[in-house]
Order: sequence, then C-alpha cells, then structure tokens
Amino acid sequence: MAMYSRIIGTGSYLPEKILTNLDLESMVDTSDEWIQTRTGIKQRHIAAPDQMASDLALAASRNAIQAAGIQASDIDLVIVATTTPDMIFPSTACILQNKLGIVSSPAFDVQAVCSGFIYALATADMFVSTGKSRNALVVGSEVYSRIMDWNDRSTCVLFGDGAGAVVLTRDQKPGILSSHLHADGSYSQVLSAPASIHSGKIQGTPFITMEGGTVFKFAVKVLEEAALEALQANDLQPSDIDWLIPHQANIRIITSTAKKLGIPEEKVVATVAQHGNTSAASVPLALDQAVRDGRIQPDQNVVLEGVGGGFTWGSVLVRW
Ligand code: UT7
Repeated sequence: MAMYSRIIGTGSYLPEKILTNLDLESMVDTSDEWIQTRTGIKQRHIAAPDQMASDLALAASRNAIQAAGIQASDIDLVIVATTTPDMIFPSTACILQNKLGIVSSPAFDVQAVCSGFIYALATADMFVSTGKSRNALVVGSEVYSRIMDWNDRSTCVLFGDGAGAVVLTRDQKPGILSSHLHADGSYSQVLSAPASIHSGKIQGTPFITMEGGTVFKFAVKVLEEAALEALQANDLQPSDIDWLIPHQANIRIITSTAKKLGIPEEKVVATVAQHGNTSAASVPLALDQAVRDGRIQPDQNVVLEGVGGGFTWGSVLVRW
C-alpha cells in the first residue's frame, strides 16, 4: 500500500523586535513609500543579539510539536533549512536536536537559501514516505539581520528574521503528493554572500550582494514553472489549487506569479508585508499563519514553492 508523509502540525516564531520602514528611514537613504511600492514590505522582525537560528528554530519547533500532539521524543529525523547557521559546525539541526532533548535521530542542515524549506521538506518526505523515519521535524530558520550590510539600502530593507516548522508523519492518507527540486549554479554570482574563511580571517564580503532585477525576473519565471510542474505531475489544473504559498520576497513577484497562473489573489497566502523576506523561513511561516487562522482546511490542495540563491527553486504539493 502506498504510504505518504503528512503534515500533522505547524509552528512558527518571530523575534519580538519589529523594525518598520520608518525606522529604516533614519538608518539609510530610503522611504516607506519606496519600500512599500517596490516590495510590499511594511515591517520585519529582528532577532535579539543573543538569539541564534537554533533559538528561533526551537520556539517554532515546540509550537509545531505541540500542534502535532506528539512528544519531542517521538521525532526521529531533524532537518533545518538555513543560510544563517549558528556556527560553521556542528549543524544548526544538531544544536536544535540537543535543545529539544532528542538523542540519536539523524539531524542535518539543508542549504538552498530561500528554497531551503522546500528542499528540506522534499528530503524529509523521502525519509518518511519510504519508512526510514516515522516523525520528521522540518524547520526553516533564519537570522538574515546578521548578514545584511545595514548601510546598503538596496538590500537591508528587504530581509527579516524568523522561523517556521512542520512535523511530518507516515500515514496511509495523503499527504505530500509530489515534490520537484531544481538548481542552476551558473547564477551563483547573482545572489550571494561571497565570503570564505582562510586561516581565521574572513575573505570576501560576508554580506548579501544581489542583482535585484535579475533575481526578480528569474523568480517570476520559475515560480510559475514550478507550480505548473507540480500541477501536471498530479493531473491538476490551476483552478484545483486551494492555496498557493510561494516564497515571500516581494509582493510584486507573488502577484505576478499568481496572475500568470490565473490564481485569484484570495487563494494566495502573503506575509511579506509583515515579515519581509525571511528566506528559508518564509514558506513555513506563511503556512503556519494560514493553518492557524483556519484558511487551510482538510482535503485542500496546497502548493508550496520556493526560489533563491544558487539559483535553486522547487515545489511541494500537499493534500491537506
Ligand atoms: O529571495 C530572493 C532574494 N531577493 C529577491 O527576491 C529580490 C528580487 N528583486 C526585487 O525584489 C527588486 O528588484 C528590488 C526590490 C530589489 C528592487 O526593485 P526594482 O524595482 O528592481 O528597483 P531598481 O533596483 O531598479 O532600483 C530603482 C531605483 C534605483 O535608483 P536609480 O538608479 O533608478 O536612480 C536604486 O538606487 O531605486 C533605488 N533604490 C532605492 N531607493 C530608495 C534601491 N534601493 C532603494 C531603497 N530606497 N531602499
């Protein structure tokens, strides 16, 4: 009998501190009007100096585990998607596993930048649906405030911190119906934090650098393609999508994608105004919001999709 992995709990966490566009006006040469018209962002959350990606992940994970109605000890796989890990090693997933008091489950990080959660969810699905794992914890957690140049107005207004998590369990009932992942490393210079460590010293710039226009065009193109690929694999039409939850980078990217797919605005979950771009955390944060406010209901088709540095992109189609 075919077995599926099913999301049985979602959770999220946003740091207390809110940085508004007005706050940014006093930091760089920008305006609330420019940020809102070009990106749709009104505010973003910023982690406290002592909060690391694993701390945000821990709070989101506890919410998801509670919603799933299981114990942390029932988790037998931990995957964290992050571009802003606590340290070079061990992985943030291992640090999170320890903070949750779990021992001996596999734990590892996935690095696919803003597509990280989609990559992590697709990976966990393969462990769970094949019976390798029973209950997987999949988290997207980011502290982009640490890798932003706060003097660079072209990037520092765009990102925020946060974490989202889901618990997947093995079930006869679907579940994740499909996942599709892609990458094209020839775009690696277009969006990067191109630093490395040599003999204890940072070489290159450790801040986000980006060709915004190129990223914008690519994102709109592949978010449409990824959604169509997911629909085709399941013999579904755009009208069969109950909820589209794309990566939250820019409201203009989100609305262009929905328009190209012919999906009405009411079926698109958008959190970018409140959260900014939280990279690997953006999709699970938006998912948790739509689950908790009752928008997502049983048996609905939910398309999750991401795009980000690499470039990487992909989709997961979920029957809720
Ligand atoms: O998760 C993936 C990560 N990245 C993205 O998703 C970003 C994708 N790209 C975008 O969202 C958009 O390209 C941006 C929001 C980054 C930029 O919007 P745009 O409409 O493509 O603007 P632009 O880059 O063409 O810049 C227009 C102008 C420039 O001035 P000039 O050269 O026309 O005089 C910029 O210098 O806006 C200026 N500008 C700003 N002005 C005020 C750039 N940043 C700012 C700012 N405030 N924060």
